[in-house]
Amino acid sequence: MKQTITALLLAALAIPAAMADSPAEIRTQSFKKILRAFEPMGMVVRDRDPYNKAKFIAMADSLKQIAAEPFNHFPAGSIDGKSRAKPEIWSQPAKFQAARDTFLKAVNELDSTAHNGDLASIKKSYGVVAQSCKACHDSFRGPEK
Ligand code: HEC
Repeated sequence: MKQTITALLLAALAIPAAMADSPAEIRTQSFKKILRAFEPMGMVVRDRDPYNKAKFIAMADSLKQIAAEPFNHFPAGSIDGKSRAKPEIWSQPAKFQAARDTFLKAVNELDSTAHNGDLASIKKSYGVVAQSCKACHDSFRGPEK
């Protein structure tokens, strides 16, 4: 009896863990984290929120910290139910890596501009990052399912 209860408990624990652990789900969560770090900077860049240098540096630093995360979760062919990943990610790996590198370089540049530049140059660097998101999405992210 005791054994059965333990087995049932373990089974109950295992189900949600397995569902949350698919690579597509993990990278989607990472990309959403990136969006949540990126969007408040966009509010400043679009003059909707006031520019505060220290705050902007903190935002650019945290984007830099998490920017590479999703790219650790693209094992070959990991396109499940809701994933928007296109097969080209794996059939054109050099092109996908180049898109990733362009993005990471732009994020580093935005971070150093946040530290050393004025708002005008921050706006330019932010635009380069936004463009690199879009370029990759245009080639490697399919429509919402
Ligand atoms: C090198 C490629 C690449 C770059 C750069 C990139 N993304 Fe994505 N992004 C993807 C792919 C591929 C997916 C789809 C993942 C999946 O569904 O399996 C995705 C998914 C997302 C998602 C999840 C929700 C959705 O709409 O699918 C968000 C949010 C997102 N990206 C935002 C961003 C933002 C913001 C940036 C830039 C700051 C960015 N991405 C840069 C490739 C990229």
